[in-house]
Amino acid sequence: MRKKVSVIGAGQTGASTAQRIIQAGYADIVLTDVVEGLAEGKALDLQESAPIVGFDALVTGVTTTPDGKGYEATANSDLVIITSGVPRKPGMSRDELLAVNQQVITTVVQAIVRYSPECVIVMLTNPVDAMTQLAYKVSGFPSNRVVGQAGILDTARYKTFIALELGVSFQNVDAYVLGGHGDAMVPLPRYTIVGGRPLTSLLPADKIEAIVERTRRGGEEIVKLLKTGSAFYAPSAALAEMANAILLDQKRILPCCAYLTGQYGINGLYVGVPVKLGQNGVEEIIEFALTSDESRALQQSANAVRSLVQAMKI
Ligand code: 2OP
Repeated sequence: MRKKVSVIGAGQTGASTAQRIIQAGYADIVLTDVVEGLAEGKALDLQESAPIVGFDALVTGVTTTPDGKGYEATANSDLVIITSGVPRKPGMSRDELLAVNQQVITTVVQAIVRYSPECVIVMLTNPVDAMTQLAYKVSGFPSNRVVGQAGILDTARYKTFIALELGVSFQNVDAYVLGGHGDAMVPLPRYTIVGGRPLTSLLPADKIEAIVERTRRGGEEIVKLLKTGSAFYAPSAALAEMANAILLDQKRILPCCAYLTGQYGINGLYVGVPVKLGQNGVEEIIEFALTSDESRALQQSANAVRSLVQAMKI
């Protein structure tokens, strides 16, 4: 029997995520949106690609209401991916979306939990660390079943810039970006390996620092170019990678926004760290040994997340 995934929000990221997962063929998808006909239209279009692409999985589109009605078709999902909410515009920070998206996500999570009490929730909506904490609180789920996507995207950007700089395959860069999904995120050059060799032996410190800075501003760089929305190809690829890890029980070690209970000296907060991702969601938090500088940077990033969480008053 195929797995079932609900993708909440049929905008650019939601629809691209649905496309990536449906093409893998092992999961049926329910795609939802509050804009009437949008999810149905994109779902039908995706389904009609099946004879060409070659998959048998089913994709259904549903219009939901902003007050949380219409979620019946999502019932008994194994995985629910939340992409709904407002993306930022040029000049805005992710944090400026807090109030509006807090409302949207509260309603969405209440509706999801009603119909899929056993699912794993993957959060994408920004500011993602705070929204993941909100989903944890509203769902009442154990923290392993609520996880956010940010680190895979940030790490992919970091790996991309390194591969381009060194002229090597993107797949030869192994790296991790920790911390919150904001300007204080923490790429870790000391844990970056390119084809078996440490990055620090391949590039001078100023080049590495420039790549780290570009990574921190990676989302903003795309928003400035697009003008009317934010990135979606790389974010949807990151979401599909998490879906594969969870639904195929791959036990992948991936940087994700996970609930910390003292690891890295952080307690009671969702922050980006390496985790083992499998059928139970976050199955283990992986603790890297950090230098005092790295640790300080992670604490600063976590503090930025903590102020957002406090602002939500949840
Ligand atoms: C980004 O960094 C949308 O937050 C997302 O592109």
